[in-house]
Amino acid sequence: MATRLGQTVLSESEIRGRVCELGAQITRDYTGRELLLVGILNGAAIFLVDLARCIDIPVSFDFMAVSSYGACTKSSGIVRIIKDLEENVEGKHLLIVEDIVDSGLTLRYILEHVKARGPASVKVCTLLSKARDRGEHPAVDYTGFVIPDRFVVGYGLDAGGLYRNLPYLAEIETDGAEA
Ligand code: IMP
Ligand code: MG
Repeated sequence: MATRLGQTVLSESEIRGRVCELGAQITRDYTGRELLLVGILNGAAIFLVDLARCIDIPVSFDFMAVSSYGACTKSSGIVRIIKDLEENVEGKHLLIVEDIVDSGLTLRYILEHVKARGPASVKVCTLLSKARDRGEHPAVDYTGFVIPDRFVVGYGLDAGGLYRNLPYLAEIETDGAEA
């Protein structure tokens, strides 16, 4: 299925400004505590490295990789761990760093998995949240932007593995059958 870039949703400078605001807020909230950032690969990789450089206290990183979509643009509801945490997170303050919360299924699964390992606290920071009814799905502590419920790419987010390197966020348009 052919895809092409559509309208810009967030510019590079809008993203940069908001990421630094989030970093400042996280700095204030975690001063005096040891913070472990848990990035959710692959989508949150770019956000995590930019966010980390806007946090002004010592932090460590760990990463998980999960798959919830396969190659298509609608949630399958099936979440699979592809790469687990490497750190022992017992007694640590964890901040899950996500690219986007859509249905919330991926996040709910990750939170259950991580909380079972006995961390001192777990919070969530997502760059993007889609404006949609999520019913019982988990609360997010730090949200960069709430965006319309459309498929977007760039700044780490992909369509079929592509476009993660775009420095801004754009809608994607798909020719042919519904994405
Ligand atoms: P959820 O489980 O429906 O909340 O989906 C979360 C995951 O799906 C995110 O971590 C992304 O990897 C992916 N995702 C959801 N919406 C988009 C989008 O608009 N563009 C690219 N990836 C998305
Ligand atoms: Mg993701």
